[in-house]
Amino acid sequence: MEKYTEVIGKIVWFFSAILMWGLATTVGLPITISLWLSTTFRDVFFSWTYVYIIQFFFQSQLVSLRKKMFQLLQKNLSSKQRSDPLEVLEIGIGDGANLPYYPDNCKLTVVDKNKFFEPYFRKSAKMYPHISYQRTVIQSAENMMDVEDNSMDVVVTSLFQCSCEDPDKVLQEILRVLKPGGKYVCMEHVAFPKKTVGFLLQKIVHPIWYLYSNGCTLDRDLEKKIKQAGFSEVVCEQYVKPQWWMFIARHFIVAMATK
Ligand SMILES: C[S@@+](CC[C@H](N)C(=O)[O-])C[C@H]1O[C@@H](n2cnc3c(N)ncnc32)[C@H](O)[C@@H]1O
Repeated sequence: MEKYTEVIGKIVWFFSAILMWGLATTVGLPITISLWLSTTFRDVFFSWTYVYIIQFFFQSQLVSLRKKMFQLLQKNLSSKQRSDPLEVLEIGIGDGANLPYYPDNCKLTVVDKNKFFEPYFRKSAKMYPHISYQRTVIQSAENMMDVEDNSMDVVVTSLFQCSCEDPDKVLQEILRVLKPGGKYVCMEHVAFPKKTVGFLLQKIVHPIWYLYSNGCTLDRDLEKKIKQAGFSEVVCEQYVKPQWWMFIARHFIVAMATK
């Protein structure tokens, strides 16, 4: 029975991939062309669709992984880090979906390259007064020149490493801004295992998905990149969402790396 459901799921995935291409090149063609031609339109379109469509459908699936990321962090903070206010940097914060899970006593700085997310983030931030909000830096994470060296106890990213241009460069920036002993925690979606139907479908939808989701790349091996970045210790947990309809991104990692 399980095998039968899996086969049906794969057939549905396949037709969904075809449908995405079909819609993007017919009724959606004006949007596809605008996304291709204008980065501003891409930023506005993505922030709106992320908040009102993607979060609406997928947010509930991700709650448990967001909680796991912060549990992993809490478990590994030193007693000093637990008692002093924590200097936290969240990169690619979007509309602030992680805010409900932050520990008390955080001083939060955020970096995001898309300024159109800021009003959504500010609205969410008002709901979580236990976080002392410091500032927003509208900057690319590959070069966070406004964030000082060795200034952060914790850096957080979620569903971000897929969409930055250069994850290796970002990881070096994270190492630069973390204090010695500081923690980088993340929750990211990663590629299906190679030579699976899911991996093939990720490749098929990639050009359309990349455009519509403002640069999200589906097939990055982020675990390997984090392990090779130069952290002193890396803990990485893998999760697979069983729902067959999560064919775009079904494999996730929750990781913690120490500088
Ligand atoms: C898919 S959203 C994830 C938002 C949020 N972290 C979450 O978990 O819901 C990716 C976010 O990363 C930001 N982003 C992507 N590439 C970036 C870069 N190179 N530098 C800074 N922010 C970036 C996007 O603007 C967006 O806010």
